[in-house]
Amino acid sequence: MTITQGKFISLEGSEGVGKTTSLNFVKDFIESKGHKVLVTREPGGTPLAEDLRATLLANRKEQVEPDTELLLMFAARSQHVKQVIQPTLASGSWVLCDRFVDASYAYQGGGRGMDYARIEQLEQWTLGNFKPDLTILLDMSVEEGMARTRLRGKPDRFETEKMAFYENVRNAYLQRAKQEPNRIHLIDAAPDISSVQRALRSLLQETCFSNNSE
Ligand code: TMP
Repeated sequence: MTITQGKFISLEGSEGVGKTTSLNFVKDFIESKGHKVLVTREPGGTPLAEDLRATLLANRKEQVEPDTELLLMFAARSQHVKQVIQPTLASGSWVLCDRFVDASYAYQGGGRGMDYARIEQLEQWTLGNFKPDLTILLDMSVEEGMARTRLRGKPDRFETEKMAFYENVRNAYLQRAKQEPNRIHLIDAAPDISSVQRALRSLLQETCFSNNSE
């Protein structure tokens, strides 16, 4: 029996765009098509990578150097990809990941202003040419996203950043979507939930379940 490799989908967007609701919707949709789906997240997804996540998100007095932050993100990602994502795809299950490498370009590149070439070097080292088959970018204005974030609990180290940081994150995401239009698909996350879900359903249908792509 030959096992067909599963598909790898990542979900991206800046704070408050409703990633969790969309993640659950995408998972249910893929399962309704008869596929197994592993839902995971970055930074995190293995016990070691979850420890790195806690380290990365903790509020602290000490200034976290951008290099340190970037290296820890990729350390967690390397562990996650090799220990969980690639073996799961090889077993035939699909993987749905809450953020992946595009978040490093958006947050460390756009937000922190790090050189994209540095990020590319780490990407090449740890991932080679491994990328998601599909990346869904949920987009809305920074004002609206931040207003939604304020309704949640105590902010983590990233959620306390200024508006300008998030404008840069958003612009970096949008720029990446322009550079890789076949992989990164933009969904307007500002309308009501049912409109967002309608857009997600047709995107998935078109990219993953049309006759050519199944
Ligand atoms: P979350 O809020 O989606 O759970 O993600 C945790 C935070 O980590 C979020 O503020 C974005 C940030 N992050 C980066 O800065 N770079 C990365 O590569 C990833 C995966 C996340």
